[in-house]
Amino acid sequence: MQIAEILHHDILIFGAGLTGLSAALEARERDPHADIAIISKVHPVRSHSGAAQGGINAVLRFDDSWHGHVYDTVKGSWFLADQDAVRVLCSEAKEAISRLDRYGALFNRNEDGTIAQRAFGGQSRKRTCFVADKTGHNLLHTLYEQAVKQQIKMYWEWFVTSLIIEDGQFKGVLALDMLSGNLYFIRGKAVVIATGGAGRIFGQSSNALINTGDGPGLAYRAGLPLKDMEFFQIHPTGLLNGILITEGARGEGGYLLNNQGERFMQRYAPKFMELAPRDFVARSIHLEIKAGRGVNNEYVLLDLRHLGEEKLNTRLPQIREIAMHFAGVDPVKEPIPIRPTVHYTMGGIDVNIQTETAIPGIFAAGEASCVSVHGANRLGGNSLLETVVFGVRSGIELLKFSQNHPLLPYSEAAVKREVDKLDRLLSREKGESVASIRKGMEATMINSFGIFRKEDLMQQGLQQLVELKERYQTVIIEDKGKVYNLNLFRALELENMLDLAHVIAVGALARKESRGAHFREDFPKMDNPNFLKHTIMVRDTQGNPQLSYRPVTIEDIQPLEEIKY
Ligand code: FUM
Repeated sequence: MQIAEILHHDILIFGAGLTGLSAALEARERDPHADIAIISKVHPVRSHSGAAQGGINAVLRFDDSWHGHVYDTVKGSWFLADQDAVRVLCSEAKEAISRLDRYGALFNRNEDGTIAQRAFGGQSRKRTCFVADKTGHNLLHTLYEQAVKQQIKMYWEWFVTSLIIEDGQFKGVLALDMLSGNLYFIRGKAVVIATGGAGRIFGQSSNALINTGDGPGLAYRAGLPLKDMEFFQIHPTGLLNGILITEGARGEGGYLLNNQGERFMQRYAPKFMELAPRDFVARSIHLEIKAGRGVNNEYVLLDLRHLGEEKLNTRLPQIREIAMHFAGVDPVKEPIPIRPTVHYTMGGIDVNIQTETAIPGIFAAGEASCVSVHGANRLGGNSLLETVVFGVRSGIELLKFSQNHPLLPYSEAAVKREVDKLDRLLSREKGESVASIRKGMEATMINSFGIFRKEDLMQQGLQQLVELKERYQTVIIEDKGKVYNLNLFRALELENMLDLAHVIAVGALARKESRGAHFREDFPKMDNPNFLKHTIMVRDTQGNPQLSYRPVTIEDIQPLEEIKY
């Protein structure tokens, strides 16, 4: 492969979802001449931020306080979140909502014109602002329009294949224009990795097909540490095919029922019931089904009938449509069959509250990063908030960095090394298909690292992942064409997913306790003395994750020994 052209922009934004767009807009607002380019493998409005349904959290009212939001978030995280980061998240939330409002987001309103807020899991107050049940969709379109207005350069349907780093310095990225198949070296002074999550590692999930952890995968192979990757959120309510049914449905008053018509959350979280944090509710549903109280031994029911047609049409119109089209039930008349679905990557690229990584000039924010505001379990509505708060922060840092640093020279050898890797992949004639390795990974992850975990199954899973990585060394690209070579993109995504899966497995095995989304049947208790610490993983020269730990930042909230809702 040849480099078709060398491009350059001072600021590169890898990912065009809410985080990337927030970063771009902030940098542009601060400097109208800032040279910014967004690179994304999909058109910006196809980013997975658009799938967020229920809302975005902020304390807006005088009778509430952002300190309460901090407390709920830290408790919901099983005390693993860094309290300085959570303080930033919650104290900057009101400004984040104002900014979105100013840009034209269509938030639902109260009669008096103030922004309406609904209840969400694990929160002691109603703090979730929403646009019916299409919040992410509306916010994404709103920010995209602003980015168009600001004439931000966008390379969409461009696939980043490598980060170019030499002597510990960021030089740029290699990217394939997916349509032409041409390869470009895009030089930059600074980049933010804002590529979102990696839910597709587990196969069926609420995540879009694009959520393959490309940013964290590339960062990890480039030597950046990943943090807390073993914490993978499973959302309690998905359809049987994995499509999300928003927590907002329970926030509006929906009940969960077992096959005896019982509101079974009474048994597991008597105070918060259906609005306990997601890890609690997901495990409860799983246990009900396992105890024979699921419907057809497969699912439980989300009953919204008592909310009435008008409320469903105004507050949850998309849920009604999804249930009708994909489950064949009209929630006005029948409950929706639901079960837990893989949803959110709580770990990610290790960053500080300035969104800086360990390499100068490389920043990360949003779901691709771990700052960490979610710890072992994210509260619903905090992810959209994170995209804006830390997206904006990264925009400020990118601009500062680009103003204070020159565009660095690069060596052709560093670029050639990465081009050669692509050539080797494309020229292999014999080997295994992407699909068969990917299927193996998905099955391994859901069987061994799902909602309940234990040593023997995880050991088996780890062994399988190591073998899958070896098999990947022989993966073949059967399509030798240039134009929209999905076979090639799927292979590159698979490499990212396999590396992240390996990190998840090693981290989960080493964490001999239960905390948030990481629940071990063999160690069912939280163990603060030994495991109130962040997992840090760095790739060694053999391609294996090397584990270390780092203390959690604790400010004024002292960790509890047990968590109840
Ligand atoms: O349930 C939901 O609407 C998802 C929201 C979130 O993940 O924050």
